[in-house]
Amino acid sequence: MSSEGLPSLRWGIIATGQISSWFASDLTLLRPNAKAKHTITAIGSSSREKGEAFVARWIPDVSPPPKVYSSYDQVFNHPDVDIIYVGTPNSFHKQNCLDAIAAGKHVLCEKAFTLNVREAEEVFNAAREKGVFIMEAMWTRFFPLVRKLHRLVHKDRVIGDVHRVFADLGLDQDISSLGPDSRLKNPALGAGTLLDICIYSITWGLLTMDSRTGESAEQPVIKAVQTLSHSIDVASTVLLLYPSTQKQAICTSTAMFRTPDVFCRIEGTNGHIEVQGVSASCPTAFTIFIKGRSSEGERHTVPKPGHGLYWEADAVAQDIAAGRKENAIMPWSETLRVLGILDEARRQGGARFPGDD
Ligand SMILES: NC(=O)c1ccc[n+]([C@@H]2O[C@H](COP(=O)([O-])OP(=O)(O)OC[C@H]3O[C@@H](n4cnc5c(N)ncnc54)[C@H](OP(=O)(O)O)[C@@H]3O)[C@@H](O)[C@H]2O)c1
Repeated sequence: MSSEGLPSLRWGIIATGQISSWFASDLTLLRPNAKAKHTITAIGSSSREKGEAFVARWIPDVSPPPKVYSSYDQVFNHPDVDIIYVGTPNSFHKQNCLDAIAAGKHVLCEKAFTLNVREAEEVFNAAREKGVFIMEAMWTRFFPLVRKLHRLVHKDRVIGDVHRVFADLGLDQDISSLGPDSRLKNPALGAGTLLDICIYSITWGLLTMDSRTGESAEQPVIKAVQTLSHSIDVASTVLLLYPSTQKQAICTSTAMFRTPDVFCRIEGTNGHIEVQGVSASCPTAFTIFIKGRSSEGERHTVPKPGHGLYWEADAVAQDIAAGRKENAIMPWSETLRVLGILDEARRQGGARFPGDD
């Protein structure tokens, strides 16, 4: 606990790429309503120079500055680190998590949690045996705006019965221009739009179709197609059909077109909701349109300084302070369910990673 009575966590961050930079700067943001106190004590990178440049650029005002190491192992074994944030490409997540767990650390691991269900089960079994907390960093689910939308759709039923959802995350990534080692192009790093961005579209489908998560949620039938190019999927469409109600979610991704501001439409018997933002990972507002009422709808926003990654970090700190090993919003069973959908989409769509059975 911090002197302010808030749960506190000392973070070790491994990898100094884009998402780690967002995460580090969000953790150190001054927030009057923060629900936890976060300290970054160690950074692990492929090189010390890169790690030091990361600190200088993204968290220059942190005092004392984090220790910088040219290996991830030194961060895993650091006595002043409680939890490891894993910001490496997808194909390294399994081993990074296993190494952190073996060192007795809690873990927050970027999405996609692992390449497939089999790997995730291995990681969760190791965490269970060691008695540490672990969670997939599916940050979007922790946005207060998303929690509000979830309440309005499922508890208040503002648009009645939801019968169809469209969710898209498209980016104009010009994959052909990227080098073969890019994490967005190299299948050995877990590249492809399905794990990189369709996972968010699928998340919107799952969140809006059913209030429950994991094993207690209804398991949808999955139909998927993928466009393959450069040995990866450059577009994926995943349809979720709920057997009990026949409602549908249409979840899509592409590397060839940036989705317009409104990326999701939730259709119900009494109206519909449009969700908007820079991408499906990072919503900024939603508007509720009720049949027969104002065509302008009712717009909802929640202030979001920085990127919005601190909400998941606060939740993790609260869980760990309470002795919990998993989080109720993103439990292990939900990570396994999402990975099961991704596995099945790749089985039907054709995208393969080295090492797939
Ligand atoms: N970018 C986003 O908006 C975003 C959002 C949410 C989640 N994510 C997830 O976060 C993870 C990282 O994404 P990112 O966009 O931050 O990637 P990135 O910018 O390419 O950074 C990845 C970092 O991982 C480390 N790494 C270790 N081995 C590597 C290898 N063989 N090739 C490349 N990098 C290697 C490197 O850090 P060091 O050299 O310091 O070790 C590198 O800077 C992915 O799982 C992704 O799905 C990304």
